[in-house]
Formats: sequence, C-alpha cells, structure tokens
Amino acid sequence: MHTLTLKDFRSYDRQIISFNGRLNLITGANGSGKTNILEALSFFAPGKGLRSASLASVGRQGGDHEGDTWQLQLCFSGPTGPLDFITRLEAGKRVVYCNEVRLKSQLALSQWVSMNWLTPSLHHAWHQKSYRRTYFDRLVFTFFPSYGMLLQEYSKLLQERILLCEKPNHPWHQTVEALMAEKAVHIFAYRQQSLSLLEEKLKTLGGLFPCPSLDMVGDFEIIMGQEQAKHVLQERWAQQRMQDFAGRRTNMGPHITSFVVSHPNGWELPYCSTGEQKSLLLSLTMAWAQASKSIHESEFHFLLLDDVMAHLDGPHRRQLYDLLESLKTFVWITVPEPLEDFSPNHHFVVEKKGGVSEVRSLY
Ligand SMILES: Nc1ncnc2c1ncn2[C@@H]1O[C@H](COP(=O)(O)OP(=O)(O)OP(=O)(O)O)[C@@H](O)[C@H]1O
Ligand SMILES: [Mg+2]
Repeated sequence: MHTLTLKDFRSYDRQIISFNGRLNLITGANGSGKTNILEALSFFAPGKGLRSASLASVGRQGGDHEGDTWQLQLCFSGPTGPLDFITRLEAGKRVVYCNEVRLKSQLALSQWVSMNWLTPSLHHAWHQKSYRRTYFDRLVFTFFPSYGMLLQEYSKLLQERILLCEKPNHPWHQTVEALMAEKAVHIFAYRQQSLSLLEEKLKTLGGLFPCPSLDMVGDFEIIMGQEQAKHVLQERWAQQRMQDFAGRRTNMGPHITSFVVSHPNGWELPYCSTGEQKSLLLSLTMAWAQASKSIHESEFHFLLLDDVMAHLDGPHRRQLYDLLESLKTFVWITVPEPLEDFSPNHHFVVEKKGGVSEVRSLY
C-alpha cells in the first residue's frame, strides 16, 4: 500500500489515504474537498501545484490555524524498500525531504515522480500565451528534468541583461547575450523533441479522441529555422538593446513563444466547442502519459484529472475509461457523482463535517 497524508492542508485536519491500485476515483459534494486532494498530490512535483496557489493559502485556515504548519507526505512501498517524501513550509519556503534527507531543490523530485494534471481552469486560461507556455514547459520538464534548470538559468540571464541597461555599451552585454543564445538553442531543442514525442503518441490514440497539431510560434522560432541560428539570435538581441532597455524587457526569445494546439479541423483550441476543447486537452494528456512512461519507465507516474468528465458525451467518456485503464499510471479522478461504467481500483468519498473534510474509502 502507498499512502498520502495531509496535515493541516486546505480543508483537511489530518487525513491518511491508502492506495495501491492505479485508478483512483474521488467523489463528493461541491466544496467537500476533492480538488484539495489532487492539489496535495501535485505538490510532489516541483512548483506551486495545480492551483498555482500561494504557499500561505494552502495551509488550513480557521480557528487557531494560521496556515503555516501544513505538511504533506507521500509514501511509496516498492520492491527496493519504502520511499518517503515529505513537503512543508520552512522559513517561508517549501522544502522537500526524501527518506528524511532534505532535497537541495524541488526540481530533484523529478528523479522519482512524474506528474501532470488537467483542471477545468486549463481551458479557460488557454487563451493566455504565457499560461500555455507554462503548461507546455511543465510537460517538457517531465520528459527532460534538466530542462527545469536550463529555464532557470535562461531567466536569470534575461534579468541580468535588463539590469545592465544603464550601461548599453558595456562589453558584458555581448557575453550575456551569447550565453542566452546558447541556452535558447537548447531550450528549443528540448521543446522540439517533446513535441515529437507527443505527436508520436497522439497518432496512436485513434478513436474519438482527436489528434491535434502542435506548434511553437514566434519570432524566435523563425530565427531557429534559419542557418547559424545562434549567431542570428545574438545579432538580433544586440540590435534590439536600446528598444528592450527602454521597455525593461527582452522582446524576443523562447520566453515569448506561443504554443498552439489546433483541432484536426483546423481551428485553434480556443475556437473549438467546450467538448472539443476537453477532448483535445485529454488527447494531449493521454499522449503525455504514454510518452512519459516510455522514457522514464521506473518512475512513479501520476495523472490528476479534476472534474474532466463534464462536457464529455457518453462515447467519449467510455473511450476515456478504456484509455485510462490501459495506462500504467496512477490516475486520480474527481467527479461529484460516481461514474457509470467505470471500475476504479479505489473509490474515495469525501464529506465535510464541521468545516473539516474527511475521506472514506468504499473499496
Ligand atoms: N486554506 C484553507 N483552509 C481551510 N479550508 C480551505 C482552505 N482553502 C480552501 N478551503 C476549503 O476547501 C473547500 C474546497 O475544496 P475543494 O476545492 O477540494 O472542493 P471540491 O470537492 O473539489 O468542490 P467542487 O466539486 O466544487 O469542485 C472549500 O470549502 C474551501 O473553503
Ligand atoms: Mg473541485
């Protein structure tokens, strides 16, 4: 049995949830605390979790609780012994422990756990370029863990470039831009490789789930298609210095990329119907699950599906159940009511009693 323990997290006081099967269903009334469980699991990936919430807001509020003593624990029992992860706030920062050893960075979690999620807010926020890029970058990171560090290094260089704006002719500019170009080329390569991985799996989905086309669009991508791209990038940044420094922002690069998903009928995702948008994002999510498993076989893979069944018609739902059953991934699904024709390994029912959520395991 594996266990997830929530302590003073969101609407939970202290809750232990045991599971060993792959398919886990959580049902309960609106506001009972279903999504809070998925959010807890999402904290075993680097970052701010599936709600992108502030660290202070996830701790239990109310009574004498001030929201700073929360702790989450995910314990796996494996053939090579237990793996025990703990995450909590320490001195205002989220820290992670693995078997009682504090990890240097949250990024290290990707050695053991690969995590992705789909939430209702995803397709609402999809029209924002930055949101799509963050979403896509997260997928790339799950495939290639060193991508996380690469992105951090590139952002640091972006900041340095703008900090130097008071001295536009300083020789250091050229050095920073050369380093930026080097990182940018790697970022592009990782992204391209990830798109190929996803496209390969998307083609195999078949059935009712559409095979979207995936694209990266922007001035940076146009330059990357040219010969001597690294050199062209550097030249362009050098030419744009005065303009960029006036606006205190670098206006071209992989941090501006627009990630575009289009339906096979040619329409970009925001123009598709609600059900079509859901299906497209589910196709992408299923392709991620298969690709992620194929490149990191030994990791613990998690797919968190928050309220994704709404807007799916019967045939799509049934095909989704078949696809989920075929994945070798821990899938956690929340829905208000139990699902017909779906046989999970575990069914958890959440109820709120006196303002505190409680989980009951039906099987
Ligand atoms: N920091 C917090 N402390 C205490 N309670 C919180 C905190 N943050 C959120 N909550 C409570 O958690 C509940 C929401 O939980 P959650 O979003 O998991 O519900 P849900 O079961 O997914 O509902 P729905 O079906 O509407 O999606 C709300 O009642 C909210 O007030
Ligand atoms: Mg919810």
